[in-house]
This record gives sequence, C-alpha cells and structure tokens, in this order.
Amino acid sequence: KPVAGLKIAVDGPSGSGKGTVAKLLAEEVGLPVLDTGLLYRLTGAVALQRGADLADEAAMVQVTVEMLDGLIWSSSGIEFHGEKWTDRLRGEEVGAAASMVAAMPEVRARLLTLQQQLAGSGCIMDGRDIGTVVLPDAPAKFFLTASVRERARRRWSQLKQMGRRCDFDEVLLDLKKRDQRDRERQHAPLAQAVDAIAIDSTTLRVDEVVDRMLGILERRGLIE
Ligand code: DC
Repeated sequence: KPVAGLKIAVDGPSGSGKGTVAKLLAEEVGLPVLDTGLLYRLTGAVALQRGADLADEAAMVQVTVEMLDGLIWSSSGIEFHGEKWTDRLRGEEVGAAASMVAAMPEVRARLLTLQQQLAGSGCIMDGRDIGTVVLPDAPAKFFLTASVRERARRRWSQLKQMGRRCDFDEVLLDLKKRDQRDRERQHAPLAQAVDAIAIDSTTLRVDEVVDRMLGILERRGLIE
C-alpha cells in the first residue's frame, strides 16, 4: 500500500521500458499510472490529421488547445472527443510528430498544468521531464536507461508485433534522432533529476526492474 498522495516519477528515453515498468509498478503499488507521452503523441496526431505545419509553433499551440478541449486522459489511456486514441498513437509517424511538438515551450507550458493537476492525489507518471519539471517534489524518482541497440531492438519487435514497418536499421536511426531531439531541446529536455535513481535495464527483465523499484520504495517507507 502506498502512503497517501504518493507521487512517483519515471523518466527515460524511448524504448527504455518505462511505460511497461510504470504500468507493472502501478499494479503492484495500487496507484493510477499516467503516460505523459500520450499527450504529446495526441497533439502530434491531431496536427497530422489537420494537415497543420508541424514546424509552426503558433499553429501547434492552437492544436494543443483544441486537443485539451476534447481530451480525457487517465490510467486507461487517452480519449479524444469520446473516441479511444491510445492504440493509434503508437506508430513511428506520430512519434516523430510528438517529438517535434514536444520541443516547443508554448506547447509544453499548455500541457504542464494538466499533468500537475491530474497527479494531485497520487500516481505514477512516466515521461521525460517528470522528475525535473512536472513533479520536482516527488519523493521517488526513477530514471530508466538501456543501451541504444537494446532499445531499438525492443521497439523493433513491438512494431513487428503490431504488424508495422520493421527494418531494424531504420528503427535504430529513428530512435537516435528522437533521442537527440529529446535530449538537446532547450526546454525541459530529457535529463536525469539530481535526486533520481538510475536503473539500467539493458540486461534486466521487466520484473527485475520493478523489484528494484519496490525495494527502494519500501526502504524509504513510501509503501507498506
Ligand atoms: O514516451 P513517448 O515515446 O510516448 O513520447 C513521445 C514524445 O513525446 C517523445 O519524443 C518525447 C515527448 N515527451 C516529452 O517531451 N515529455 C514527456 N513528459 C513525455 C513525452
């Protein structure tokens, strides 16, 4: 059982396994889990659908405002105007669009309030800037990493399972590009918070990563 209002931040690059790990940890601890990547992905997807210019920040802010208006975001994913969007947001095209809008400070600012509000009564939140920007006071922060080849391998097998494009070298190149954009952007880049605990999952199974996290939460008296 978690202490009242417990907030846990899980950050890391694409393919570090943070989504899967956050979900499992949430089940173990009994907290809702919020995937912040979905907000950026939905913004990117709506922009693509509208045929808007992904490089035009003012246009992307407009799309973000529209998106927030029709949005229900929860542990079970994301709905837009009453339709489930989670599954259609997993593709590479949407991922690339998400990474572009995520570099825009005005877009991030619009999404920040919602994230902080929904985290209110306790949750596990996963993303890139949760420990550094969204929930800087979270009593537990994890930063998941894995080698770039291992992350590309995971993404590749995920895409293959979904019946999507699956040339490994292309996936690897895309991942490197996205990494670079997420790390080097000026506003809220992907970075490990000073008080975050890094876990390298290159050679660990998901349940081993979750076990480590549970051990840390227990030692800190954050779960009983
Ligand atoms: O975790 P993901 O692959 O679903 O994220 C999609 C994009 O959104 C990724 O390029 C980084 C960006 N993102 C972000 O900038 N900040 C977050 N808190 C979550 C995602």
